[in-house]
Amino acid sequence: MEKKEDQKEEKKAEAPAAEAPAAAATEDKVDPFHVEAATDKGIDYDKLIKRFGCSKITPELLDRFEKLTGQKPHRFLRRGIFFSHRDLDKILDQYAKKKPFYIYTGRGPSSSALHLGHMIPFMFTKYLQDVFDVPVVIQLTDDEKYYHKQDLTIEQCQQYAIDNIKDIIAVGFNPEKTFIFRDTDYVAQLYGNALKVGKHVTLNQIKGIFGFNDSDNVGKFAFPPLQAAPAFSSSFPHIFGKDDTIPCLIPQAIDQDPYFRMTRDAAVKVGLLKPSCIHSCFFPALQGLKGKMSGSIDTSSIFMTDTPKQIKTKINKYAFSGGQGTKEEQRAKGTITISESTPTVGANLEVDVAYHYMKFFLEDDVELAEIGRKYQKGELLTGEVKAKLITVLQEFVANHQVYDEKRNV
Ligand code: TRP
Repeated sequence: MEKKEDQKEEKKAEAPAAEAPAAAATEDKVDPFHVEAATDKGIDYDKLIKRFGCSKITPELLDRFEKLTGQKPHRFLRRGIFFSHRDLDKILDQYAKKKPFYIYTGRGPSSSALHLGHMIPFMFTKYLQDVFDVPVVIQLTDDEKYYHKQDLTIEQCQQYAIDNIKDIIAVGFNPEKTFIFRDTDYVAQLYGNALKVGKHVTLNQIKGIFGFNDSDNVGKFAFPPLQAAPAFSSSFPHIFGKDDTIPCLIPQAIDQDPYFRMTRDAAVKVGLLKPSCIHSCFFPALQGLKGKMSGSIDTSSIFMTDTPKQIKTKINKYAFSGGQGTKEEQRAKGTITISESTPTVGANLEVDVAYHYMKFFLEDDVELAEIGRKYQKGELLTGEVKAKLITVLQEFVANHQVYDEKRNV
């Protein structure tokens, strides 16, 4: 089964020309450098799971997680925000046997401030660290961003990495068990494993997996093995010694999966362990579910440096509403077909950005369900839902800033 999956992936990667037409207008576009949904409802994640060849996180798997750890699954798991995986069950087996494993995640430092979407994998990684009590390694790919952003200097990327590390620390990782590094500092330790991966990935595969073409700089082609390397425990001799048999779990947004599909393929060929993955969906832009929140478009994002007033203004002004055009229409009584994408009264939750953000940030399941129900029926107005969201996010961002301040001194 496993073998079949790998062969399939490899074949796909080696046939870029065959894959290209599928990515036409009606297909969602998802790779580490582009995310764009074909429709306003956002990415079709079930289709993506099939296309990428990963597995859905099932209620049974979550049950097992809960029984083993004795912890309630994080709201990101309860609500299907982390929705897909590769070999997560193997990590749970490892935990059940009380054997070691570690967690690896990362960030491409392309701007000084992080936004809400950037926080999702880090919040989730911290939760997993608390639950499993295992080492976490965090890679800052200043090299990757340098290759990909025409207007950035190496020094700027390195500085952004330092700025970002402060925000990452503020998420509250266990300082005893967390190692955060920039590629430009740590590259020598990664190099051995990067070489092994590089030897087993062809130019055709890189083109197929990442969509680069002949006018892209060679740095872009050369970089992917460096993102693969931290998935192998021998890249961290100060934590694991020379042991390359400690399994790795990688929490990530699903656009990063191409890197780790490549990593898993190469691992088999060089006799290293295939890392496990757990994937999140994207955090939508304020403007709607077609795109993800982007650090380079100020009005699409809420930054961790925003003031309470900026948060309020941005949500009120830009957050796309699935409600009706007028108060009267939103409240009007009538028949409601919940599954229909354009209801005659009430809000269409599928496209409503404030409601989506609430799914990510409001902890209380009962309250969330109640808001959804009332909003959909027209008993709540967009303004009221936004007002609730504004309070939730103002509190989240302010708490983060307090922590950040403390860490800065
Ligand atoms: N390439 C990622 C980005 O641009 C950064 C990254 C490096 C990463 N290693 C990772 C993300 C591991 C998730 C998991 O943001």
